[in-house]
Amino acid sequence: MNVEFFKHNVGNQEIKLVEKVLRSLFLTTGAYVDQFEESLASYLNAKYAVGLTSCTAALHLACIAAGVKPGDEVITTPMSFVATSNSIIMADGIPVFVDVEKDTGNIDANLIEKAVTRKTRAIMPVHLYGQMVDMKKIFAIAKKHKLVVIEDAAHALEAKRDGFRPGQKTSFACFSFYATKSIASGEGGAFVCDNKTIAKLIKKLRSHGITSELAQRVRTGLKTYDVDILGWKYNMDNIQAALLIPQVKKIEREWKAREGVAKIYRQAFKKIGIDMPREYKNSKHGRHIFPIWVSPEKRDKILEYINKHGVGAVINYPAIHLFSYYRKRFGYKEGMFPHTERIALSEISIPLYSKLADKEINYVIKVVSQAVKA
Ligand SMILES: Cc1ncc(COP(=O)(O)O)c(C=O)c1O
Repeated sequence: MNVEFFKHNVGNQEIKLVEKVLRSLFLTTGAYVDQFEESLASYLNAKYAVGLTSCTAALHLACIAAGVKPGDEVITTPMSFVATSNSIIMADGIPVFVDVEKDTGNIDANLIEKAVTRKTRAIMPVHLYGQMVDMKKIFAIAKKHKLVVIEDAAHALEAKRDGFRPGQKTSFACFSFYATKSIASGEGGAFVCDNKTIAKLIKKLRSHGITSELAQRVRTGLKTYDVDILGWKYNMDNIQAALLIPQVKKIEREWKAREGVAKIYRQAFKKIGIDMPREYKNSKHGRHIFPIWVSPEKRDKILEYINKHGVGAVINYPAIHLFSYYRKRFGYKEGMFPHTERIALSEISIPLYSKLADKEINYVIKVVSQAVKA
């Protein structure tokens, strides 16, 4: 049997809406993007969403909106996809890593305050695999030291903890619609916040800093524009938005299906003693990735066995601070963030999506069980 690592949820509704865009005049940022932004904000119960080309773009612009200037520090986690800390460097900031909780992989909020210096401008937590970090603690530190909170919520569209969801309160939240995310447009992202001025700034920064985008000029009859700030080219287009609009309506249904799969996996793996991240109480897990933690010495062999038996499985993530660029530029070495390093060497992500059939779920469990015993 072959079980793919991921299958997206693009169906007839999405294809029809994309066709409508393709048969229309306006392929780039326009009414479909507006509609997507409204529906995303409404789903998240947040005030503003801005459609972008990726979560990386959202994180980069969030750093700029947070006022990160050359040499400013942003506290973040080395247990993430490299986009998280790269976005800080893209804004000329310096990523300052602190280690993660050893039993969840999320940034250890108790270590953040010790890392705050006069140069710290923001905290960038990642809701790893879909579990929200301790936002209560992080908001308290941010308030005390006047820092901006930028949530990397690429895994956490559906997540909730202690009454918080990403992008509420005073934080900026960044989402990904990359090919394997719970709603996917191939590439795509969004910035979400509750501040109108910041949302307007992000809209300007996504299109070179021009004071009005084309669709707005068409609507209002404006003939020209100014550029009063340096921006980038990160605007979501109508094709991406048309792929996403129908998917927003299915977020909860798809999440429930993944939650069901995750429950079956957790029960089965607990029985045979496979280690998995602890799950918080008072929390709704976004269920983006299903990780298992195996012995670091055996991990690569186990992964190979799983793949050889037709099950898609990958590693999420290598430790960022040990990438050669990060070692060379910032002097990071082995041993600096031991929990991150252990997770990086022991993690395997297995298939988690709504289209998994019962027999596929059972096959994944069988193969993983055999792999750890082999
Ligand atoms: C935690 C995390 N942050 C950021 C990103 C970057 O997202 P994008 O590919 O949309 O730029 C990803 C992508 O997979 C991610 O997993």
